Amino acid sequence: MNPADATTARRPASSVLPAQHRPAGVRIAGSGSHLPEGRLTNADFVKFLDTSDEWIVQRTGIRERRMCDADKGENARWMGGNALRKALADARLDASELDMLIFGTVTGETLCPATACRVAAEVGAVGAGAFDLAAACSGFVYGLNLGHELIRSGAYRRVGVVGCDHMSSIIDYSDRGVAILFGDGAGAVVLTPTDDLSKGILAQSMHADGSGWHDLYLPHHIRDFPAGQPGTPEKVHKLQMNGREVFKFAVRTFGDLIEQTLTKAGLQADQVDHYVCHQSNARILEASRERFGLPAERLHVNIDHYGNTSAGSVPLVFDELRRAGRIRDGDIVLFVAFGGGLTWASSLWRV
Ligand code: COA
Repeated sequence: MNPADATTARRPASSVLPAQHRPAGVRIAGSGSHLPEGRLTNADFVKFLDTSDEWIVQRTGIRERRMCDADKGENARWMGGNALRKALADARLDASELDMLIFGTVTGETLCPATACRVAAEVGAVGAGAFDLAAACSGFVYGLNLGHELIRSGAYRRVGVVGCDHMSSIIDYSDRGVAILFGDGAGAVVLTPTDDLSKGILAQSMHADGSGWHDLYLPHHIRDFPAGQPGTPEKVHKLQMNGREVFKFAVRTFGDLIEQTLTKAGLQADQVDHYVCHQSNARILEASRERFGLPAERLHVNIDHYGNTSAGSVPLVFDELRRAGRIRDGDIVLFVAFGGGLTWASSLWRV
């Protein structure tokens, strides 16, 4: 049998359901995450940057981050693929049953092919639809919303959503204002239909404001730098950030996004069991926690161990909570993220 026949044979009519079988409920059937072994602590930074453990902890809450070893082939494809394998195992699903893979990343190895295509092939989801989603740190939450709607519409049944970034591949380690913030990591979920109509998204939103692009961007050419901020060859392919502006944007946007999403669903802040938030800076998370008067155990923080892992951060938090047995059937979970673009997104679930 030639490969094309094998692919077609694998997934004949499974992707498209007859209208009468269209499910309205969507469940998060499994989750997984993957982190490289390599660690970069604040003490490591002190050896080559003008910084201190005290400054980093006070301003960001970060103590260490994980780092891929590119020489060993560790990268976004490797982390994301491993996270997806674990999510499939958790969901007790064979990779061949996946209909679609959405891979949130801005650090894939190549623009073409999309990392999603190679990951799908490597895990055994041959023939499933697969695409990368570039919404920076909001990539996983965007993907979660899209995956949910693909299933709720009845068009697809089993969707893998990965959030994964290999940030160390785009960091200038001589730039102390940026380098200390980011780490590498990946998380994934597998979404499936359910007859339980109470499960799935209660409210969601996805936003972007490209006029703020120059506060957080990745130049590929000298011509990509904003007017008035001439680039240098060393800065090309390295993440550029205006930390203060991003901080102000984040504090304002995060709180407003939570409020708007709760209003859409007709819920109060204390009715949400878990706030699964993008881990960008402990002070940004703390501002939201204070604004809504949330007890610390409802807004999970793991930035101290992993730093900001961009699209990886939200699914990493979710997987940690799930593995700790803290996500119970029927819980209300709010996923929130913001990032380069500028982008911001929310996804409020009954799981
Ligand atoms: N160690 C020591 N000093 C540092 C430093 C470091 N790693 N990084 C910056 N500084 C210095 C600055 O040079 C500045 O010095 P100056 O006053 O002599 O000019 C001083 O600390 C204050 O800088 P500032 O940028 O105002 O600090 P800050 O309190 O805003 O903290 C960030 C900087 C980057 C931690 C903070 O702005 C931030 O977290 N922004 C959001 C970033 C983010 O979330 N990005 C990802 C979005 S998904």
